[in-house]
Amino acid sequence: MPAPTPASTPAPWWRDAVFYQVYVRSFADSDGDGLGDLPGITSRLRYLRDLGVDAVWITPFYPSPQHDAGYDVADYRDVDPRFGRLSDVDDLLTRAHRLGLRVVVDLVPNHTSSDHPWFRAALAARPGAAERARYLFRQGRGRRGDRPPNNWESVFGGPAWSRVEDGEWYLHLFDTSQPDLDWRNPEVPAMFDDVLRFWLDRGVDGFRVDVAHGLFKVASLRDQRGVTHGGDLPSDREDRAMVERTVRDEPMWDQPEVHEVYRSWRRLLEQYDGDRMAVAEAWTQTPESMARYVRRDELHQAFNFAWLLAPWSAEAFAEVVRGTLAAVAPVGAAPTWVLSNHDVVRHPTRYGGGPRGLARARAATLTMLALPGSAYLYQGEELGLEEVDVPPESRQDPYWFRTGKPGRDGARVPIPWRGSRPPYGFGPAGTTPWLPMPDDWAALTVGRQRKDPDSTWTFYRDALRARRRWATCGEVEIVEGRRTVLHLRRGDLTVVCNCGSRPVRLPAGEIVQASGPLHGDLLPPDTAVWLV
Ligand code: NOJ
Ligand code: MG
Repeated sequence: MPAPTPASTPAPWWRDAVFYQVYVRSFADSDGDGLGDLPGITSRLRYLRDLGVDAVWITPFYPSPQHDAGYDVADYRDVDPRFGRLSDVDDLLTRAHRLGLRVVVDLVPNHTSSDHPWFRAALAARPGAAERARYLFRQGRGRRGDRPPNNWESVFGGPAWSRVEDGEWYLHLFDTSQPDLDWRNPEVPAMFDDVLRFWLDRGVDGFRVDVAHGLFKVASLRDQRGVTHGGDLPSDREDRAMVERTVRDEPMWDQPEVHEVYRSWRRLLEQYDGDRMAVAEAWTQTPESMARYVRRDELHQAFNFAWLLAPWSAEAFAEVVRGTLAAVAPVGAAPTWVLSNHDVVRHPTRYGGGPRGLARARAATLTMLALPGSAYLYQGEELGLEEVDVPPESRQDPYWFRTGKPGRDGARVPIPWRGSRPPYGFGPAGTTPWLPMPDDWAALTVGRQRKDPDSTWTFYRDALRARRRWATCGEVEIVEGRRTVLHLRRGDLTVVCNCGSRPVRLPAGEIVQASGPLHGDLLPPDTAVWLV
């Protein structure tokens, strides 16, 4: 059910929606091939309605050689047979809409798969041919042209250029199997306009735009200055802990020309009824640069990764809230919040793991859910799942293959639904999931947690209910956010999150939701509470 909006301020549905990210291959496997699929999702939509989310974002299910789990698209207008058929998308949309859920699909415009007919044609053509001009093919440096055209590094490690047989190089900011498109070639935007229309005509409610900050590179393709490492995704545990705060020279990201694309997409989306929307995945360097993607005539939302990158600290959280609200206010956009997704270490693990990591994760979630704008949840966080240490022989992330660092598979392990042994109802009995599931997840299954009033699942359901009731209007005031306690007010709601190591006295008020047990009028460490 979409959240009720007060008659005086008719806000579009997405403005304060809670989105649930479904990572297709790991959600629910209907046919036992070990990969989640569209019929699997459809069969679980009721679960999402019961949990209390408003919308579902589904990661790529298009035909793909799956070198980057579907973020390498070989055909933008079809479904990979491993995930189903086009009619399964229609069924999913019909069922979701009937249950009052919106559906957002992933759009991958920065690069295609190397299996896309365009890239195959480019390889078959000669240097200088029109077929090559849809991508970024260049001569190499050096007398024999055997050095890459510039010093850019792939986000997944190693050079961002690969050489083809006739000696030219092509740019791939991600894996070699993900050649970057040249958005200065008019054929490229024209193709994506058609792709948007294709899915809008089928009834999707919006798009999550992959690598939205990447489409244009500086026209000269000049060297990046002061490179130490080239990644934009904080992709392994150590790197993710040390987030650089200084502004880097990034000629491959966040170029001004990209905004014209989003202006034209906004116009296209507005030709449809039903408040269709788009959310940008833009790893920009500052809240201000993030806000440029959500100016009134551009995209509706942009992921705000500030909280996800922040340490467990009241001061850091206060700064995230302050910085985010200040950045989006001038452009009139609503903020978004997210703590986990399929590219980062799950937040209980980031906060130290074990019971303390989970307590902190629940506290951060409850605090986040009180804030204005919309929130994005990642499948499995409602079960308190931790990052899994996937054995090296089972890892599939291209980042692992290119760098030898663990990569993102640990956040992508399939969901445990029921039972006491793998695959825990993820697929029919006997299914071998595409990533091994831990042997000790029996207590974490949906089946077990739904019956337990103290489980993380029950906490999420209650917090989402409480959000509808208490956290849909009012400005945020930061009462205290300097030392160990984050204390916010929003309308009638008071939010206190204790990031310190000692209990603190609760302010006056009636408790409407807590992230964990309270001790009388004391708020224990690693706990958050809502009061009215
Ligand atoms: C961001 C996606 O979330 C990630 O999973 C993918 O590897 C890159 N974009 C490249 O498409
Ligand atoms: Mg399957």
